[in-house]
Amino acid sequence: MSNILVTGGAGFIGSTMIRHIINHTDNSVVNVDKLTYASNRSSLNSIGDSERYSFAQVDICDASKFSQVLNYYQPTAIMHLAAETHVDRSIDGPENFIQTNIVGTFNLLKTVKSYWNGLPEPMKKSFRFHHISTDEVYGDLKDPDRFFTEETPYAPSSPYSASKAASDHLVRAWYRTYSFPIIITNCSNNYGPGQVPEKLIPLVISNALDGLKLPIYGAGDQVRDWLYVEDHARALYKVLVAGVVGETYNIGGQNEKKNIDVVKMICALLDELVPLNQASYANQITHVSDRPGHDLRYAIDATKIKRELGWEPVETFETGLRKTVEWYIANRAWCKEVKSKLESNIGG
Ligand code: NAD
Ligand code: TYD
Repeated sequence: MSNILVTGGAGFIGSTMIRHIINHTDNSVVNVDKLTYASNRSSLNSIGDSERYSFAQVDICDASKFSQVLNYYQPTAIMHLAAETHVDRSIDGPENFIQTNIVGTFNLLKTVKSYWNGLPEPMKKSFRFHHISTDEVYGDLKDPDRFFTEETPYAPSSPYSASKAASDHLVRAWYRTYSFPIIITNCSNNYGPGQVPEKLIPLVISNALDGLKLPIYGAGDQVRDWLYVEDHARALYKVLVAGVVGETYNIGGQNEKKNIDVVKMICALLDELVPLNQASYANQITHVSDRPGHDLRYAIDATKIKRELGWEPVETFETGLRKTVEWYIANRAWCKEVKSKLESNIGG
């Protein structure tokens, strides 16, 4: 049995990851999270009472506190998800992204390497530092026939993706220089229950239900490769237990969609599930100014993880999107609370 320390476990993917570990494995989890505006501890309510779950409110930039957590909980592996993640926020204010994504990751590498050096041999050998990253580090694809592979050169466009790229480089350098046992995964856009309604899919669902505008940046012809968040969590666990140290695995859904088509699909689902009186939610679609430096297309080639680890997504975009829309319809109170928190920008 392992004791996995998850950073950013109160976030969208981190909380899905923790629920997966507690519900589907015998391992214990320590969740280390600063509880920024993006965190939602209620996403962990269903497993919060498990004896195999612990929580520590710690900023990963605080090396001394993080060392104390390591020494106290003695984890056998780290899954590092804590990050600032919203591209638009990184454009408006990059500082937090540099601090958490770059300096925070450096702090983890420093403190965890020192902890790892002191471990007894069998534990040291099986220890893993799994760094969870994004396909946005590769920049965007102009040629419609090309996909991001693990060999695609890094060319990040936004302060967010540049900060994630920097963190990936640090993690890889710790492997090459110190033989520190890292694995990196780069994943495409996630969607699913419990995502903060500032990202495209949850924002559009909640705005539609609230009778607000559905903002499409520019023409809406940018393409994203969407993956249901539980499929991502299954992939991450597979990589943690069976991935090869020092390797990178790309994770994606093979679900390329234009933003405008995603928004129209959401409107069609809402028209069916919560019909308006003789109108469509699509009437709320509003084209707004484009995002500066907006990446045109992301698309992952996930051949390696399929071939080497046997992972494939279970959800299609149609099944996953329906589940997601149903979840947001059933959790309007949650959405309202999170949106008011976003407006006042407070943590917790
Ligand atoms: P999120 O924004 O929903 O959650 C991030 C979590 O990290 C929050 O709980 C927040 O409180 C915590 N956090 C932020 N700064 C911290 C700090 N300094 N110390 C400790 N905790 C801190 O993010 P997410 O969408 O769940 O993404 C998780 C990871 O997956 C990120 O590293 C992100 O880059 C990566 N990723 C996300 C996507 C996506 O589509 N969401 C896709 C690929 C990769
Ligand atoms: P987002 O969910 O922010 O993820 P990312 O920028 O990491 O891909 O945005 C997904 C796509 O949707 C992206 O091309 C930007 C676009 N978008 C809009 O058109 N309107 C919006 O209000 C938001 C938040 C995003």
